[in-house]
Amino acid sequence: MEYRIGRVLLSEEELRRKVKELGSRIREDYKGKKVVFVCVLKGAVIFFSDLVREIGPDVDAQLDFLAISSYGVSTKSSGVVKIQKDLSTDIHGKHVIIVEDILDTGLSLSYIGKLLRERGPESLEICVLLDKAERRTQHVDVKYTGFTIPDEFVIGYGLDYAGQFRHLPAVHIAEPLD
Ligand code: XMP
Ligand code: MG
Repeated sequence: MEYRIGRVLLSEEELRRKVKELGSRIREDYKGKKVVFVCVLKGAVIFFSDLVREIGPDVDAQLDFLAISSYGVSTKSSGVVKIQKDLSTDIHGKHVIIVEDILDTGLSLSYIGKLLRERGPESLEICVLLDKAERRTQHVDVKYTGFTIPDEFVIGYGLDYAGQFRHLPAVHIAEPLD
């Protein structure tokens, strides 16, 4: 199926305001601590770079990157996810915050959470910009959520359809072309 850019779901202004709010919550919660922020590539890259710039100097932050891919649609539902690029930081004994663009069924984040927890971090929390709550099949504990959104395919602000549209500054609904 092909998609075109549909109406704006979240404007640049709404995104900016929310990212500021999440940043200040994280800053308060982690003041004086050392934290590894983990960006889940590629979708979270825009959100991540805006978010970490809201954290400020009171948190001793390190940035790292993780890329996963899920096997085709049928195996995805069995929760089979593969690491494409691992962290370059040893997170043992560290405070870690995973930053992701969107939480849908929960398979990706439950896999990533389990994987990183096995490495013995001091703490591990999740920050997601968007939550399609009604689609959840796996429970995931998320400490920081931006927006709960309806079950629509969304693009922009890092989110793609087949690699397209990540660069758009707002979040749009993707409209099927027929
Ligand atoms: P799960 O189901 O593992 O899915 O929670 C999370 C991943 O699914 C992708 N996803 C989307 N990507 N627009 C996108 O561009 C969407 O509306 C959407 N819904 C799910 C995304 O890669 C995310 O990491
Ligand atoms: Mg993603």
